[in-house]
Amino acid sequence: MKKLIISAALGLMIPLMSIGQSTLGPGATGSSLTVAGSPHNFSGQTWNSYNSTTMQGGQICQPCHTPHNAISPTITGNAAPLWNHTFTTATYSMYTGFEFGTLTTTGAYIGYGVTAPDGTSKLCLSCHDGSVALGAYGGQTGTLYMNDVAPGANLGTDLTNDHPISFPYDSVVAGGVHDKNFIYSQYAAGGSGTYVTYTSSGKTVGSKLDANGEVQCTSCHGPHSNSRGYQLSMDNRGSALCLSCHKK
Ligand code: HEC
Ligand code: HEC
Ligand code: HEC
Ligand code: HEC
Repeated sequence: MKKLIISAALGLMIPLMSIGQSTLGPGATGSSLTVAGSPHNFSGQTWNSYNSTTMQGGQICQPCHTPHNAISPTITGNAAPLWNHTFTTATYSMYTGFEFGTLTTTGAYIGYGVTAPDGTSKLCLSCHDGSVALGAYGGQTGTLYMNDVAPGANLGTDLTNDHPISFPYDSVVAGGVHDKNFIYSQYAAGGSGTYVTYTSSGKTVGSKLDANGEVQCTSCHGPHSNSRGYQLSMDNRGSALCLSCHKK
């Protein structure tokens, strides 16, 4: 029986392994499911190298989390999870866009006039807006910034050219997005693995929103896993991620 299970597991692993470990390609592959296998594994980065005096560095979780004496930045929605990275104090320009920033027939701004990011997006922006050093965690200051390490991942403080975040999803349903209770579909490998089909994910749009029902960076990305490339929260082949919210 044990042998059967092992060979079944191996049978499953070989086709998975043959897909390869592309960081950008779609599909779940072994180590990319963990932080260790993602671009967020900074254990080997120069800005996170082991310091025998402070006993810091060389770790995976530490640039973002600490078990003790965490900082508690004030963010809306979900609280910061044992946060260890210096919190950004930057000011931002937010997306106003096409219809997003225009007045509705009832006279309310579709985008609710959002002027600043909030919620867990502020945790992401504490590295990705480029204003706080990457090594600024656990009381250290750090010298290297996002732009020095990965310029393409530096969003800056001008978010006018980025998908809107930190706005309540409900208020913008008029913009052509699904109801919060809509169960979206996603790509799944088909029979032989050579084709893909849409299947119901069993999750609703609501699961992509934060505790205040807002769209955040974490609606589309996870901090921990890179199984679908770009740390996306779901496979975006056929734009499945986009279509999970947008009625298009
Ligand atoms: C680059 C930053 C970063 C790294 C590295 C990181 N995390 Fe996180 N983690 C976050 C952020 C941001 C959140 C909150 C956002 C969310 O999950 O929606 C979070 C949330 C969590 C949570 C609560 C929510 C959940 O997903 O369960 C746990 C537990 C957690 N992290 C554990 C870890 C552990 C353990 C490691 C190391 C193996 C780690 N994290 C590495 C950024 C990071
Ligand atoms: C401690 C700093 C830090 C925090 C906090 C952080 N990131 Fe990152 N992130 C980085 C760095 C550095 C890179 C670039 C890694 C590389 O390319 O070497 C990166 C890369 C990425 C990438 C690109 C992955 C790829 O495949 O190229 C995405 C997407 C991303 N981060 C999203 C997020 C989101 C979403 C959050 C919040 C939930 C977050 N990050 C929080 C430092 C951080
Ligand atoms: C509406 C969905 C959505 C939201 C919200 C979102 N992203 Fe992304 N992001 C994506 C997609 C999709 C990609 C992959 C890029 C592509 O397909 O061209 C991406 C790519 C990235 C990259 C990699 C850029 C590169 O070229 O290396 C980073 C870094 C990133 N996002 C960070 C963030 C951060 C930080 C936030 C919040 C401030 C955020 N994202 C909000 C969908 C989103
Ligand atoms: C978590 C749900 C969600 C996801 C996922 C999502 N969006 Fe959005 N997006 C919204 C909402 C809500 C709005 C604001 C309402 C609107 O303008 O239609 C919006 C706004 C936009 C706008 C601006 C429209 C305007 O009027 O200015 C564009 C374009 C857009 N999204 C494209 C995308 C693309 C492309 C993707 C996939 C990479 C994506 N969205 C993923 C929820 C989402």
